[in-house]
Amino acid sequence: MNAESVESSATVTRAPQAGATSRRAFLGSAGAVALGAGMLTGVSDAFGKGDLTEGDAAILRFLSAAEILETDLWQQYNELCGIQDAAVPGGSGNPAFAKIMATFDGDMAQYVHDNTHDEMTHFTFLNGYLKSRGADAVNLDAFRKLPSSTAKGAQKIGRLTNLMQLTMDTSWYTRYRASRKNPDLGATFPPAVPGLLKGEFPAIPRSDADLKPAKHLQAIANTAAFHFATIEQGGTSLYPSLAQRVKDPEVLKVVLSIGPTETMHFQTWSDLAGDSPPVKDPTNGLSFPDLNKPPFGGPNYQTNLIMPHPTTFLRPDLPVCSVIRPTNTKGAAMGAATFLTAMGLFKGQPPAFFAALKTLARQADAARR
Ligand SMILES: [Fe+2]
Ligand SMILES: [Fe+2]
Repeated sequence: MNAESVESSATVTRAPQAGATSRRAFLGSAGAVALGAGMLTGVSDAFGKGDLTEGDAAILRFLSAAEILETDLWQQYNELCGIQDAAVPGGSGNPAFAKIMATFDGDMAQYVHDNTHDEMTHFTFLNGYLKSRGADAVNLDAFRKLPSSTAKGAQKIGRLTNLMQLTMDTSWYTRYRASRKNPDLGATFPPAVPGLLKGEFPAIPRSDADLKPAKHLQAIANTAAFHFATIEQGGTSLYPSLAQRVKDPEVLKVVLSIGPTETMHFQTWSDLAGDSPPVKDPTNGLSFPDLNKPPFGGPNYQTNLIMPHPTTFLRPDLPVCSVIRPTNTKGAAMGAATFLTAMGLFKGQPPAFFAALKTLARQADAARR
Protein backbone atom coordinates (compact mmCIF):
# COMPACT_ATOMS: atom_id res chain seq x y z
CA MET A 1 0.00 0.00 0.00
CA ASN A 2 1.39 3.40 -0.83
CA ALA A 3 1.62 6.38 1.45
CA GLU A 4 -1.40 7.93 -0.17
CA SER A 5 -3.67 5.11 0.80
CA VAL A 6 -2.08 4.99 4.22
CA GLU A 7 -2.84 8.61 4.69
CA SER A 8 -6.06 8.38 6.49
CA SER A 9 -8.26 5.97 8.21
CA ALA A 10 -11.26 6.25 10.36
CA THR A 11 -12.14 4.61 13.56
CA VAL A 12 -15.38 3.07 14.43
CA THR A 13 -17.07 1.08 17.10
CA ARG A 14 -20.52 -0.39 17.22
CA ALA A 15 -23.45 0.48 19.37
CA PRO A 16 -23.64 -1.89 22.29
CA GLN A 17 -26.60 -4.19 22.05
CA ALA A 18 -28.28 -3.06 25.22
CA GLY A 19 -28.34 0.53 24.02
CA ALA A 20 -28.89 -0.26 20.40
CA THR A 21 -32.63 -0.29 20.51
CA SER A 22 -32.94 3.15 21.94
CA ARG A 23 -30.18 4.48 19.69
CA ARG A 24 -31.85 3.08 16.62
CA ALA A 25 -35.14 4.47 17.74
CA PHE A 26 -33.48 7.85 18.23
CA LEU A 27 -31.94 7.78 14.80
CA GLY A 28 -35.21 6.71 13.28
CA SER A 29 -37.12 9.49 14.89
CA ALA A 30 -34.39 11.88 13.84
CA GLY A 31 -35.20 11.18 10.25
CA ALA A 32 -31.91 9.40 9.71
CA VAL A 33 -31.23 8.31 6.19
CA ALA A 34 -30.82 4.57 6.17
CA LEU A 35 -27.99 3.52 3.89
CA GLY A 36 -29.63 0.21 3.12
CA ALA A 37 -29.49 -1.06 -0.43
CA GLY A 38 -33.03 0.02 -1.08
CA MET A 39 -32.30 3.61 -0.25
CA LEU A 40 -28.93 4.00 -1.84
CA THR A 41 -30.16 6.14 -4.65
CA GLY A 42 -31.40 8.71 -2.22
CA VAL A 43 -28.04 8.70 -0.50
CA SER A 44 -26.09 8.92 -3.70
CA ASP A 45 -27.19 12.23 -5.03
CA ALA A 46 -29.15 14.07 -2.40
CA PHE A 47 -29.24 14.35 1.33
CA GLY A 48 -30.86 16.77 3.72
CA LYS A 49 -28.34 19.47 4.62
CA GLY A 50 -30.61 21.59 6.78
CA ASP A 51 -29.09 25.02 7.37
CA LEU A 52 -25.56 23.71 6.80
CA THR A 53 -23.69 24.11 3.56
CA GLU A 54 -23.75 20.95 1.50
CA GLY A 55 -20.02 20.53 2.12
CA ASP A 56 -20.25 20.89 5.88
CA ALA A 57 -23.15 18.43 6.05
CA ALA A 58 -21.27 15.96 3.84
CA ILE A 59 -18.13 16.20 6.00
CA LEU A 60 -20.12 15.62 9.17
CA ARG A 61 -22.00 12.74 7.58
CA PHE A 62 -18.79 11.03 6.47
CA LEU A 63 -17.29 11.49 9.92
CA SER A 64 -20.46 10.10 11.49
CA ALA A 65 -20.25 7.01 9.27
CA ALA A 66 -16.58 6.61 10.14
CA GLU A 67 -17.42 6.86 13.83
CA ILE A 68 -20.23 4.32 13.52
CA LEU A 69 -17.79 1.90 11.92
CA GLU A 70 -15.16 2.72 14.52
CA THR A 71 -17.68 2.08 17.29
CA ASP A 72 -18.51 -1.29 15.79
CA LEU A 73 -14.95 -2.54 15.89
CA TRP A 74 -14.16 -1.11 19.31
CA GLN A 75 -17.31 -2.68 20.72
CA GLN A 76 -16.07 -6.10 19.59
CA TYR A 77 -12.80 -5.51 21.40
CA ASN A 78 -14.56 -4.24 24.51
CA GLU A 79 -16.75 -7.33 24.72
CA LEU A 80 -13.65 -9.53 24.84
CA CYS A 81 -10.95 -7.55 26.62
CA GLY A 82 -12.48 -4.31 27.89
CA ILE A 83 -14.93 -3.52 30.66
CA GLN A 84 -18.59 -4.32 30.10
CA ASP A 85 -20.66 -1.85 32.09
CA ALA A 86 -23.56 0.55 31.82
CA ALA A 87 -21.58 2.96 29.64
CA VAL A 88 -20.38 0.25 27.26
CA PRO A 89 -22.73 -2.71 27.66
CA GLY A 90 -22.59 -5.96 25.74
CA GLY A 91 -20.45 -9.06 26.03
CA SER A 92 -18.98 -10.63 29.12
CA GLY A 93 -15.22 -10.73 28.57
CA ASN A 94 -12.94 -13.51 27.43
CA PRO A 95 -10.63 -14.29 30.36
CA ALA A 96 -7.75 -15.73 28.30
CA PHE A 97 -7.77 -12.92 25.75
CA ALA A 98 -8.24 -10.22 28.40
CA LYS A 99 -5.36 -11.69 30.37
CA ILE A 100 -2.90 -11.60 27.50
CA MET A 101 -4.02 -8.09 26.48
CA ALA A 102 -3.39 -6.94 30.06
CA THR A 103 0.26 -7.99 29.69
CA PHE A 104 0.74 -4.93 27.43
CA ASP A 105 -0.50 -2.64 30.19
CA GLY A 106 -2.42 -3.25 33.39
CA ASP A 107 -4.82 -0.51 32.32
CA MET A 108 -5.63 -2.20 29.00
CA ALA A 109 -9.26 -3.02 29.85
CA GLN A 110 -9.95 0.56 30.95
CA TYR A 111 -8.32 2.00 27.85
CA VAL A 112 -10.31 -0.29 25.55
CA HIS A 113 -13.50 0.62 27.38
CA ASP A 114 -12.85 4.34 27.24
CA ASN A 115 -11.86 4.31 23.59
CA THR A 116 -15.07 2.41 22.82
CA HIS A 117 -17.15 4.84 24.81
CA ASP A 118 -15.50 7.81 23.10
CA GLU A 119 -16.41 6.45 19.67
CA MET A 120 -20.01 5.86 20.73
CA THR A 121 -20.26 9.47 21.82
CA HIS A 122 -18.59 10.66 18.61
CA PHE A 123 -21.17 9.19 16.24
CA THR A 124 -24.08 9.86 18.57
CA PHE A 125 -23.04 13.49 18.88
CA LEU A 126 -22.35 13.95 15.17
CA ASN A 127 -25.75 12.50 14.27
CA GLY A 128 -27.42 14.57 16.98
CA TYR A 129 -25.64 17.69 15.73
CA LEU A 130 -26.62 17.02 12.11
CA LYS A 131 -30.22 16.68 13.23
CA SER A 132 -30.02 19.87 15.29
CA ARG A 133 -29.04 21.72 12.12
CA GLY A 134 -31.88 20.13 10.16
CA ALA A 135 -29.57 17.80 8.24
CA ASP A 136 -29.83 14.04 7.68
CA ALA A 137 -28.02 11.83 10.15
CA VAL A 138 -26.32 8.59 9.10
CA ASN A 139 -27.51 5.09 9.89
CA LEU A 140 -25.64 1.98 8.78
CA ASP A 141 -27.84 -0.53 10.62
CA ALA A 142 -28.89 -2.23 7.38
CA PHE A 143 -25.33 -3.52 7.07
CA ARG A 144 -25.01 -5.05 10.55
CA LYS A 145 -24.82 -8.57 9.18
CA LEU A 146 -21.21 -9.71 9.50
CA PRO A 147 -20.65 -12.60 11.92
CA SER A 148 -19.47 -12.23 15.49
CA SER A 149 -16.65 -14.16 17.07
CA THR A 150 -17.97 -17.34 18.66
CA ALA A 151 -15.40 -17.08 21.46
CA LYS A 152 -16.62 -16.82 25.01
CA GLY A 153 -17.54 -13.27 25.94
CA ALA A 154 -18.54 -11.94 22.53
CA GLN A 155 -22.13 -11.07 21.77
CA LYS A 156 -23.55 -13.13 18.94
CA ILE A 157 -24.96 -10.29 16.89
CA GLY A 158 -24.54 -8.86 13.40
CA ARG A 159 -21.49 -6.63 12.93
CA LEU A 160 -20.48 -3.89 10.54
CA THR A 161 -16.79 -4.70 10.71
CA ASN A 162 -14.69 -7.84 10.41
CA LEU A 163 -11.79 -8.20 12.84
CA MET A 164 -10.96 -11.72 11.77
CA GLN A 165 -9.28 -11.24 8.38
CA LEU A 166 -7.12 -8.14 8.67
CA THR A 167 -4.33 -7.21 6.27
CA MET A 168 -2.68 -4.35 8.05
CA ASP A 169 -0.36 -1.54 7.05
CA THR A 170 1.69 -0.60 10.10
CA SER A 171 3.78 2.06 8.38
CA TRP A 172 2.48 4.71 10.78
CA TYR A 173 5.11 3.31 13.14
CA THR A 174 7.98 4.47 10.95
CA ARG A 175 6.11 7.50 9.55
CA TYR A 176 5.82 9.14 12.96
CA ARG A 177 9.47 8.33 13.76
CA ALA A 178 10.80 9.82 10.52
CA SER A 179 12.52 13.18 10.20
CA ARG A 180 12.67 15.21 6.98
CA LYS A 181 10.03 12.93 5.45
CA ASN A 182 6.35 13.68 5.15
CA PRO A 183 3.67 11.63 3.35
CA ASP A 184 2.05 14.90 2.24
CA LEU A 185 5.22 15.53 0.21
CA GLY A 186 5.24 12.06 -1.30
CA ALA A 187 7.33 10.14 1.19
CA THR A 188 6.57 6.49 1.81
CA PHE A 189 7.40 4.43 4.86
CA PRO A 190 8.11 0.77 5.60
CA PRO A 191 5.73 -1.14 7.86
CA ALA A 192 6.78 -2.09 11.39
CA VAL A 193 5.35 -5.59 10.93
CA PRO A 194 5.69 -6.56 7.25
CA GLY A 195 4.00 -9.90 7.89
CA LEU A 196 0.69 -8.20 8.67
CA LEU A 197 0.54 -7.08 5.03
CA LYS A 198 1.05 -10.61 3.74
CA GLY A 199 -2.12 -12.46 4.59
CA GLU A 200 -5.34 -12.23 6.55
CA PHE A 201 -5.05 -12.34 10.31
CA PRO A 202 -7.45 -12.25 13.25
CA ALA A 203 -7.20 -9.44 15.78
CA ILE A 204 -9.66 -11.20 18.09
CA PRO A 205 -10.07 -14.89 18.87
CA ARG A 206 -12.48 -16.11 16.19
CA SER A 207 -13.55 -18.90 18.53
CA ASP A 208 -12.24 -20.43 21.72
CA ALA A 209 -10.04 -22.64 19.53
CA ASP A 210 -7.93 -19.52 18.91
CA LEU A 211 -7.00 -19.27 22.59
CA LYS A 212 -4.13 -21.71 22.07
CA PRO A 213 -1.37 -22.45 21.45
CA ALA A 214 0.13 -19.60 23.46
CA LYS A 215 2.16 -18.17 20.57
CA HIS A 216 -0.94 -18.05 18.37
CA LEU A 217 -2.86 -16.14 21.03
CA GLN A 218 0.13 -13.80 21.49
CA ALA A 219 0.13 -13.08 17.75
CA ILE A 220 -3.61 -12.29 17.89
CA ALA A 221 -2.98 -9.96 20.83
CA ASN A 222 -0.11 -8.26 18.98
CA THR A 223 -2.34 -7.87 15.91
CA ALA A 224 -5.00 -6.24 18.10
CA ALA A 225 -2.46 -3.87 19.67
CA PHE A 226 -1.25 -2.78 16.25
CA HIS A 227 -4.81 -2.54 14.98
CA PHE A 228 -5.79 -0.17 17.79
CA ALA A 229 -3.03 2.25 16.78
CA THR A 230 -3.57 1.74 13.05
CA ILE A 231 -7.21 2.72 13.39
CA GLU A 232 -6.58 5.71 15.63
CA GLN A 233 -3.73 7.18 13.58
CA GLY A 234 -6.24 7.26 10.76
CA GLY A 235 -8.71 9.30 12.77
CA THR A 236 -5.81 11.48 13.84
CA SER A 237 -5.22 12.42 10.19
CA LEU A 238 -8.82 12.36 9.01
CA TYR A 239 -10.14 15.17 11.20
CA PRO A 240 -7.49 17.82 10.44
CA SER A 241 -7.59 16.80 6.77
CA LEU A 242 -11.34 17.39 6.51
CA ALA A 243 -11.35 20.42 8.83
CA GLN A 244 -9.55 22.35 6.11
CA ARG A 245 -12.74 22.18 4.02
CA VAL A 246 -15.23 23.22 6.69
CA LYS A 247 -17.01 26.57 6.35
CA ASP A 248 -19.19 27.17 9.39
CA PRO A 249 -17.18 28.17 12.51
CA GLU A 250 -19.35 25.97 14.73
CA VAL A 251 -18.84 22.95 12.47
CA LEU A 252 -15.12 23.73 12.56
CA LYS A 253 -15.30 23.74 16.35
CA VAL A 254 -16.97 20.32 16.26
CA VAL A 255 -14.35 18.83 13.94
CA LEU A 256 -11.40 20.45 15.70
CA SER A 257 -12.65 19.34 19.11
CA ILE A 258 -13.30 15.70 18.27
CA GLY A 259 -10.19 15.17 16.14
CA PRO A 260 -7.57 15.52 18.87
CA THR A 261 -9.29 12.86 20.98
CA GLU A 262 -8.42 10.46 18.17
CA THR A 263 -4.83 11.56 18.64
CA MET A 264 -5.04 10.88 22.37
CA HIS A 265 -6.19 7.37 21.49
CA PHE A 266 -3.44 6.96 18.91
CA GLN A 267 -0.63 7.90 21.23
CA THR A 268 -1.84 5.51 23.90
CA TRP A 269 -1.98 2.66 21.42
CA SER A 270 1.27 3.64 19.79
CA ASP A 271 2.94 3.13 23.16
CA LEU A 272 1.27 -0.23 23.72
CA ALA A 273 1.85 -1.56 20.19
CA GLY A 274 5.54 -0.92 20.77
CA ASP A 275 5.33 -3.34 23.70
CA SER A 276 4.34 -6.23 21.43
CA PRO A 277 6.75 -9.08 22.15
CA PRO A 278 8.47 -10.75 19.22
CA VAL A 279 6.65 -13.94 18.31
CA LYS A 280 6.03 -16.25 15.38
CA ASP A 281 2.55 -17.71 15.10
CA PRO A 282 3.01 -21.47 14.60
CA THR A 283 -0.40 -21.77 12.93
CA ASN A 284 0.09 -19.29 10.08
CA GLY A 285 3.70 -18.09 10.14
CA LEU A 286 2.86 -14.48 11.04
CA SER A 287 5.99 -13.02 12.57
CA PHE A 288 6.33 -10.00 14.85
CA PRO A 289 9.90 -8.68 14.94
CA ASP A 290 11.79 -7.35 17.94
CA LEU A 291 11.08 -3.66 17.44
CA ASN A 292 14.14 -2.67 19.44
CA LYS A 293 16.53 -4.47 17.10
CA PRO A 294 17.65 -3.67 13.52
CA PRO A 295 16.21 -2.56 11.19
CA PHE A 296 14.38 -0.81 14.00
CA GLY A 297 15.54 0.16 17.47
CA GLY A 298 18.28 2.71 18.08
CA PRO A 299 17.86 6.44 18.54
CA ASN A 300 15.37 6.83 15.67
CA TYR A 301 13.16 3.79 16.09
CA GLN A 302 13.24 2.72 19.73
CA THR A 303 9.84 1.68 20.97
CA ASN A 304 9.45 4.44 23.56
CA LEU A 305 9.48 7.16 20.89
CA ILE A 306 5.76 7.80 21.01
CA MET A 307 5.74 11.55 20.39
CA PRO A 308 5.72 12.64 16.72
CA HIS A 309 9.31 13.11 15.58
CA PRO A 310 9.72 16.62 14.11
CA THR A 311 9.69 16.44 10.33
CA THR A 312 9.38 18.46 7.18
CA PHE A 313 6.07 20.31 7.09
CA LEU A 314 4.54 22.17 4.14
CA ARG A 315 7.87 22.83 2.39
CA PRO A 316 11.37 21.41 2.74
CA ASP A 317 12.86 24.89 3.20
CA LEU A 318 10.92 25.50 6.41
CA PRO A 319 12.17 24.42 9.84
CA VAL A 320 11.13 20.92 10.88
CA CYS A 321 8.04 20.67 13.06
CA SER A 322 6.36 18.04 15.21
CA VAL A 323 3.08 17.55 13.39
CA ILE A 324 0.28 15.15 12.60
CA ARG A 325 0.81 13.65 9.16
CA PRO A 326 -0.61 13.25 6.66
CA THR A 327 -3.06 16.14 6.67
CA ASN A 328 -3.41 16.82 2.95
CA THR A 329 -7.09 17.54 2.40
CA LYS A 330 -7.53 16.43 -1.21
CA GLY A 331 -9.29 13.08 -1.32
CA ALA A 332 -8.93 12.61 2.44
CA ALA A 333 -12.31 10.98 2.97
CA MET A 334 -11.90 8.55 0.06
CA GLY A 335 -8.39 7.85 1.32
CA ALA A 336 -9.84 6.85 4.67
CA ALA A 337 -12.50 4.67 3.08
CA THR A 338 -9.88 3.02 0.86
CA PHE A 339 -7.53 2.47 3.78
CA LEU A 340 -10.19 0.77 5.88
CA THR A 341 -11.38 -1.32 2.96
CA ALA A 342 -7.85 -2.44 2.04
CA MET A 343 -7.38 -3.47 5.66
CA GLY A 344 -10.10 -6.08 5.21
CA LEU A 345 -12.24 -4.40 7.85
CA PHE A 346 -15.37 -4.78 5.73
CA LYS A 347 -14.66 -8.21 4.29
CA GLY A 348 -18.02 -9.88 3.70
CA GLN A 349 -20.02 -6.68 3.24
CA PRO A 350 -22.16 -6.51 0.08
CA PRO A 351 -21.45 -4.14 -2.84
CA ALA A 352 -24.18 -1.80 -1.55
CA PHE A 353 -22.13 -1.15 1.57
CA PHE A 354 -19.05 -0.12 -0.39
CA ALA A 355 -21.20 1.98 -2.69
CA ALA A 356 -22.66 3.81 0.31
CA LEU A 357 -19.23 4.36 1.87
CA LYS A 358 -17.82 5.69 -1.39
CA THR A 359 -20.79 7.98 -1.89
CA LEU A 360 -20.35 9.49 1.56
CA ALA A 361 -16.61 9.88 0.96
CA ARG A 362 -17.05 11.45 -2.46
CA GLN A 363 -19.56 13.95 -1.09
CA ALA A 364 -17.24 14.88 1.79
CA ASP A 365 -14.28 15.30 -0.56
CA ALA A 366 -16.36 17.61 -2.76
CA ALA A 367 -16.67 20.14 0.07
CA ARG A 368 -15.01 23.49 -0.53
CA ARG A 369 -14.29 26.29 1.86
FE1 LIG B 1 -13.89 8.66 17.01
FE1 LIG C 1 -10.98 6.78 17.49
